[in-house]
Amino acid sequence: MEHLFEKLWKHAESDCYPYHMPGHKRRCFGMLPEELCKLDITEIDGFDNLHQPEDILSSLQQEAARLYGAEESFYLVNGSTCGILSAVSCALPGGGHILMARNCHKSAYHAAYLRGLRITYLYPTYREEYDIYDVVEPCQVRCALEREPDIKAVLIVSPTYEGRISDIGAIAEIVHEKGIPLIVDEAHGAHLGLGEGFPKNSCQLGADLVIHSVHKTLPALTQTALLHVNGNRIHRGLLKRFLRIYQSSSPSYLLLMGIDNALQFVGLQGQMLFARFRQRYEAMLKELGVCKHLRFLTDFQGRQDIGKLLISVKGTGITGKQLYDILLQEYHLQLEMASTSYVLAMFTINDEEQAYGRMTEALLSIDRWLETQAGKLGTAGTRGHGTEKLGRAGTDVLDGKWSDAKALDWGQVDGISLGVAWDMLTEVVELGESMGRLMGEFINLYPPGIPILVPGERMTEAVYRRILEAIAQGLTVQGVQVSEGKGLSVPVICEQDQGHDLA
Ligand SMILES: Cc1ncc(COP(=O)(O)O)c(C=O)c1O
Repeated sequence: MEHLFEKLWKHAESDCYPYHMPGHKRRCFGMLPEELCKLDITEIDGFDNLHQPEDILSSLQQEAARLYGAEESFYLVNGSTCGILSAVSCALPGGGHILMARNCHKSAYHAAYLRGLRITYLYPTYREEYDIYDVVEPCQVRCALEREPDIKAVLIVSPTYEGRISDIGAIAEIVHEKGIPLIVDEAHGAHLGLGEGFPKNSCQLGADLVIHSVHKTLPALTQTALLHVNGNRIHRGLLKRFLRIYQSSSPSYLLLMGIDNALQFVGLQGQMLFARFRQRYEAMLKELGVCKHLRFLTDFQGRQDIGKLLISVKGTGITGKQLYDILLQEYHLQLEMASTSYVLAMFTINDEEQAYGRMTEALLSIDRWLETQAGKLGTAGTRGHGTEKLGRAGTDVLDGKWSDAKALDWGQVDGISLGVAWDMLTEVVELGESMGRLMGEFINLYPPGIPILVPGERMTEAVYRRILEAIAQGLTVQGVQVSEGKGLSVPVICEQDQGHDLA
């Protein structure tokens, strides 16, 4: 089978002169490295066309479909973002009603806005002992579909940013009983279903549309992603139309080559790479099992992705951001994110032994330091829900307990659709004065870019406190501005405009 790297390299070494884009003409310029320029082309003769693939790109996409167990797969160069935009846009008619997990990435909301969709939310369950939003349970999906019979598509995120995996097989059955499609934003799960002992991916579990960020969890270049489609509930022509709309007309062949390269090597050596990954990861967790203060979310019953090491600081007296800063400044370990009460470190098949060794050493040493500080530190690690006792030390295997779906930490839904609300006139008010007001913009905790407030939702006391706490701990809250004379402020919908539109 022909692969892009060899083909691009052969072309670069040939005497064919480029009287075409890109403007670097395959030569180094300024600081741009030569090798990168040599391989960077877009659609020229012999290299097929991403928007109408008939040759090498068609074969590579078929190969991707085989690898993941999909009927049809598409290479994406605008990240999972464009996959989610396309999937949501084609899965139900404009103005239709979608059932969507509230912890969806902002791209899902953007799709709903662009297509004027009505949204009913599924609030993910909540794991109090780790302070995380957990999976969506199949019974939640069943109840919502029974309550709202005009829902035309369902969208779930699995794995979540924190690595929580929903029971997609059971959810797909429920959704399909209604004759509607299930979309799974599996942006964080491009590695699933490719190695023994790893959870299956959502194509293998019956989802109609599945989106993978290849760049997140496989060794590939940033922005690379895949979209897979299965079954007959999705209009394939419409899907391709939206991919043409949301994707660049000049796809980068460096990115396409990156997807090919990752999938080719995973296809060839996946069993060995994933087995080694798992073995190193488990060995690390075993060593970390002696920790008395830091806790690790581990659950090999198929509900936690091992690519995400969630380190909880709840009850330790330090915040997630403090642990994040210690790991960065003292140990030079750059983590993926910090939240109020945990940090996330990502591991993939491309980590070397030292990735595990350095993390283990650092965490053991921090845990020993926490032991010396017992009683001296504050209670900062116990956000909001801090009434429960500190869980047992070391690694915790989940016991299947979960609290009720929690709508309280999110904005209060008020009946104005996102499509209408985001176009309304806004004014900027002090954060403290926004209580009870309808939001005019998204407010996202970043990373990962999940909106805690969506345009048209009301600011509540609980969300207000959640924002203040995040800011106080040095976390990024997108959408909250510092405006002159007002301090922390947010855009809210003008009451006048609200009245007009609601009348
Ligand atoms: C759950 C989820 N879906 C989709 C995306 C968008 O992915 P991409 O960056 O590949 O566009 C992200 C990005 O962080 C994400 O966390």
